[in-house]
Amino acid sequence: MAVVSSMQHSFVCCVLFLFIIISQGSAQLNGYFCDYNKVGNYTANGTYGNNLNTVLWNLTSNKQIDYGFYNSSYGENPDRVNAIGLCRGDVEQNECRSCLLDSRGNLTQRCPNQKEAIIWFDNCMLRYSNHSIFGRMETSPWLHMWNMANATDMEQFNDVLGSLMHNLTERAASGDSRRKYAAGNASAPNFESIYGLVQCTPDLSRQDCSNCLVGAVSEIPSCCNGKRGGRVVTPSCNIRYESYRFYYEPATATATAHAPASSP
Ligand SMILES: *[C@@H]1O[C@H](CO)[C@@H](O)[C@H](O)[C@H]1NC(C)=O
Ligand SMILES: *[C@@H]1O[C@H](CO)[C@@H](O)[C@H](O)[C@H]1NC(C)=O
Ligand SMILES: *[C@@H]1O[C@H](CO)[C@@H](O)[C@H](O)[C@H]1NC(C)=O
Ligand SMILES: *[C@@H]1O[C@H](CO)[C@@H](O)[C@H](O)[C@H]1NC(C)=O
Ligand SMILES: *[C@@H]1O[C@H](CO)[C@@H](O)[C@H](O)[C@H]1NC(C)=O
Ligand SMILES: *[C@@H]1O[C@H](CO)[C@@H](O)[C@H](O)[C@H]1NC(C)=O
Ligand SMILES: *[C@@H]1O[C@H](CO)[C@@H](O)[C@H](O)[C@H]1NC(C)=O
Ligand SMILES: *[C@@H]1O[C@H](CO)[C@@H](O)[C@H](O)[C@H]1NC(C)=O
Ligand SMILES: *[C@@H]1O[C@H](CO)[C@@H](O)[C@H](O)[C@H]1NC(C)=O
Repeated sequence: MAVVSSMQHSFVCCVLFLFIIISQGSAQLNGYFCDYNKVGNYTANGTYGNNLNTVLWNLTSNKQIDYGFYNSSYGENPDRVNAIGLCRGDVEQNECRSCLLDSRGNLTQRCPNQKEAIIWFDNCMLRYSNHSIFGRMETSPWLHMWNMANATDMEQFNDVLGSLMHNLTERAASGDSRRKYAAGNASAPNFESIYGLVQCTPDLSRQDCSNCLVGAVSEIPSCCNGKRGGRVVTPSCNIRYESYRFYYEPATATATAHAPASSP
């Protein structure tokens, strides 16, 4: 059982449209926001809507990209649309595209004419905006989710969790422009295990990725203190930990195939 809370900026929380869905399955919708910066709506059949369709079609029809990061822009200002799709680093290509297709369908349905929107599933994130979004760290809107179960020894559990998250953050931030992702596990007291995962959109600089993840990890006490599982999800980065393995172990071949990837 998972619990969710979310917010954009604390001071405008109450006028926002928030739509949250409790997640239990493996590829579930976690939540989404329409028009979270109040940039407004576009008119049906107008230029912006057509550009958005082009961008989302482009992004979800790409069969070359095998590292789970998609970005695309289309159109001229003021109707230029920018979009980013990011799959969890362990999700393989077909599952990734299927998640992005679900994201596109759900966003189109739930944010029918908003210029800006974001959606998170377990396996991917999709967002678009009329603002430039590439290479920018954005930490809002965000979503917190946690497991109801308590860790048995909270203090020691938190120590191990902090150390694990720190190590994963270092590894992910040092990733290349295709992948900034790390996952791993550690032993907590009383034979508990902690499985952690952290990821940035790989268009972020190393420093921005690190800052974003450090910020997300610092939210753990307020979202998930002493809980055996938790997630902090933002547009630029996300973290998750559980007492069970929720990600695929990479085959060694896949890991090395991604390692030498150079900047495009
Ligand atoms: C934008 O569209 C949404 C959904 O159709 C609607 O609820 C909202 O009032 C519209 N906003 C403006 C400023 O027209
Ligand atoms: C948009 O275009 C379609 C087909 O071109 C048309 O059927 C529909 O009525 C139009 N919608 C609006 C709101 O103009
Ligand atoms: C998507 O857009 C990129 C550039 O933005 C372009 O190179 C590519 O050909 C487009 N792909 C499709 C399937 O339209
Ligand atoms: C929304 O996502 C679900 C998966 O959670 C998917 O089954 C459904 O087809 C999606 N809806 C649309 C309109 O794409
Ligand atoms: C995005 O759209 C809003 C509302 O139409 C507009 O005020 C803003 O200038 C646009 N931003 C860009 C970068 O075009
Ligand atoms: C977890 O611990 C908190 C306080 O430490 C307690 O209020 C809560 O009932 C516990 N939850 C469960 C599921 O045991
Ligand atoms: C983090 O890395 C340090 C140094 O490599 C190592 O000693 C420590 O055990 C790691 N922590 C976890 C929880 O894996
Ligand atoms: C990490 O997980 C693997 C398999 O899921 C397990 O074999 C290993 O013992 C775990 N390591 C730690 C330190 O918990
Ligand atoms: C996508 O992001 C990469 C950086 O990861 C950047 O070099 C490229 O220009 C972006 N593509 C578009 C269409 O903006």
